[in-house]
Amino acid sequence: MDVMDGLSTIIALSYLIAASLFIYGLKFMSSPATARKGNLIAAIGMFIAIVVTLLDRKIIDFTWIAVGIIIGSLIGAVSARKVKMTAMPQMVGIFNGFGGGASALVAMAEFLRATSTSEGILHLDASISIIITIIIGAVTFTGSFVAFGKLEGFITGAPVQFPLQKVVNVLVILGAVGLSVYIIGWAPSWTLFYVVVGLSLLYGVLFVIPIGGADMPVVISLLNSFSGLAACAAGFVVQNNILIIAGSLVGSAGLILTQIMCKAMNRSLTNVLFSAFGTGDMEAGATTATGDKVARSVDAEEAAMIMGYAQSVIIVPGYGMAAAQAQHAVRELTELLQSRGVEVKFAIHPVAGRMPGHMNVLLAEAQVPYNLLYDMDDINPEFPHADVALVIGANDVINPIARYDKSSPIYGMPILDVDKAKHIIIIKRSLNVGFAGIDNELFYDPKTSMFFGSAKDKVQELVSEVKKL
Ligand code: TAP
Repeated sequence: MDVMDGLSTIIALSYLIAASLFIYGLKFMSSPATARKGNLIAAIGMFIAIVVTLLDRKIIDFTWIAVGIIIGSLIGAVSARKVKMTAMPQMVGIFNGFGGGASALVAMAEFLRATSTSEGILHLDASISIIITIIIGAVTFTGSFVAFGKLEGFITGAPVQFPLQKVVNVLVILGAVGLSVYIIGWAPSWTLFYVVVGLSLLYGVLFVIPIGGADMPVVISLLNSFSGLAACAAGFVVQNNILIIAGSLVGSAGLILTQIMCKAMNRSLTNVLFSAFGTGDMEAGATTATGDKVARSVDAEEAAMIMGYAQSVIIVPGYGMAAAQAQHAVRELTELLQSRGVEVKFAIHPVAGRMPGHMNVLLAEAQVPYNLLYDMDDINPEFPHADVALVIGANDVINPIARYDKSSPIYGMPILDVDKAKHIIIIKRSLNVGFAGIDNELFYDPKTSMFFGSAKDKVQELVSEVKKL
């Protein structure tokens, strides 16, 4: 075996180890308790993959690779440290965009290299993977930036619609695909190639712009899957196995997450992508539907008495806890209640908040022990035995209308059975609607006490009142 063969074997074996580490990493990431370990394992896999790829004999100059690694690592480390937990979807969005853009650039470079040699002839398999990489990568690039803009608020969160929008969208993507077929089959022309790139970039914008801002987490997860598919296609372009494997893992993980989110909202992906759902406003809506119904309110003293003398309290966090950053005060309240002998559990709805795992991440950040966190299926049977359900800024995920009103936008969405608890205390600023824009009958339930105000202030008030008991 000569040196080159030996090197190829080392590269192939190391890629196998890296791929196994990716898969183990993903497995560990499926539970909050092991997620950090999973991240670390996958990162080690990626480190091995990068180092081994640098041994590749086809690399003739390391200068630009080193510059890229240094700049990329700096940007990654600084943004990971600085990003606020609530801005995580935006950050993931922008990273997806860069991932798609990078794959598209690799494919463009390969197109240039291939068409400037071999008398301009591109092999069929190479040209198909190049074109697929470019279309998916470019769509991911601009689509992710629009999603980022919507979440950051510099592009309107409301669905942007115009006449014949769907027809225009279909024509743009068909144009890109049609021209690609022509380039592959007949004329590898640079001019037409640029038109395909332009149409794909345009499609990314047109694809995301009609979707409401509040649906962006689902879109970002889908674009995450696209970025994986683009990387996988780029792996075929440069014939790199680890890129193919890592890309397919990202592609399938993103798609599975998208499906989980849609299922938990009881909406189809088509509905998310094409129905212009929601106002797009990340804050709660503005209608207060009181009618002749009366909502009973409590003050901190009374709420603290109800909870401080209870045997069991189930805390139900929602988007309002994230918006108010109340998680640390919630942990303090939990410890205080536990010190009084109250059993405290957390009920976590899969789509509470605005991103997958939103509540888990916030509560973990505030060091609430994982063993107090219960998934919806596990905690629902416990509500009828709970003395108090304390709802902190949740609305849609506890709305009983989802069980019976077929005309409701959340009909069929599984909900937390908060209405079955003996007492219900709801912290929110008003009777306003949540993300789905619908009134919640639970606010007017005789068992319910509304504790009006911003979540952080109200939980802090509860803490001081429970201390006085
Ligand atoms: P929502 O139904 O959106 O309700 C949140 C409530 O929090 C609002 O009614 C608002 O009422 C209150 N609130 C806002 N700021 C607050 C603050 N500073 N202090 C106290 N309360 C505050 O939230 P949810 O129950 O968590 O449900 C999530 C919704 O988002 C679902 O419809 C879900 O389908 C959707 N969604 C989720 C995801 C993921 S992956 N999690 C992705 C896309 C969409 P006030 O204005 O009266 O305070």
